[in-house]
Amino acid sequence: MNIIIADHYDNLCEVSADIVKKCVRTQESAVLGLATGSTPIGLYKKLILDYQSGDVDFSNVTTFNLDEYVGLSRSHPESYNKFMNDHFFQHVNIHPDNIHIPQGDHPKLEAECKQYEDLIRYAGGIDLQILGIGSNGHIGFNEPGSDPEARTRVVRLSESTIEANARFFGDTALVPRLAISMGIKTIMEFSKHIVLLANGEEKADAIQQMAEGPVTPDMPASILQTHHNVTVIVDKKAGQKLKNQSLYRTS
Ligand code: GLP
Repeated sequence: MNIIIADHYDNLCEVSADIVKKCVRTQESAVLGLATGSTPIGLYKKLILDYQSGDVDFSNVTTFNLDEYVGLSRSHPESYNKFMNDHFFQHVNIHPDNIHIPQGDHPKLEAECKQYEDLIRYAGGIDLQILGIGSNGHIGFNEPGSDPEARTRVVRLSESTIEANARFFGDTALVPRLAISMGIKTIMEFSKHIVLLANGEEKADAIQQMAEGPVTPDMPASILQTHHNVTVIVDKKAGQKLKNQSLYRTS
């Protein structure tokens, strides 16, 4: 696990955007795994600016998002579909046919999950997977206790995630209780390179345990210690509880 402690959030966004751009430029048709949440918003902003200045071209890129709330239509203001359109897709030239996000209001959720998994496999896996992390260590919506062997499936959100995401819905009662999420196994097996981003002190405990604690389903992100190609980029606040600071690169 390669850990980079960025000076501040803008710096984290620049470093991660450089990794995405390198992937898009070097792969003939790059497959990107994308994340939602407030953390990657600055990364998407940077990529949009770079696209607008002609620095990067997404015309041959395919994307797969990590997750989506169950029960929300694509146009629901809090759907991850809408989030991705607003913050990234509508501003760049990724072909709409190449954008994949689980359909949260699909009438047959199990079939949708299986098909999603198959689509990633047919695409040849994911060249670069962007991840955020929940304060409880979740990746995608793989909550503490998730089976490390799990594939894309319907999951139940933990109480802490419902609380954390209530800020977007205005009321805890409005937060969907279920989501479709790529599984831990999906992420681990299909991703050739994983970049996990975290900023802010509310992520500091999760980052320390994820990187330096035991590998355990109680801290889902800790399994990334066993992946062959992981880059973790944190700002100083999210990295402040890491014990082996001297081992990590700063930028
Ligand atoms: C959400 C998403 C995750 C995301 C996490 C952190 O629940 N399902 O993919 O990484 O929470 O979000 P944020 O970046 O807003 O802290």
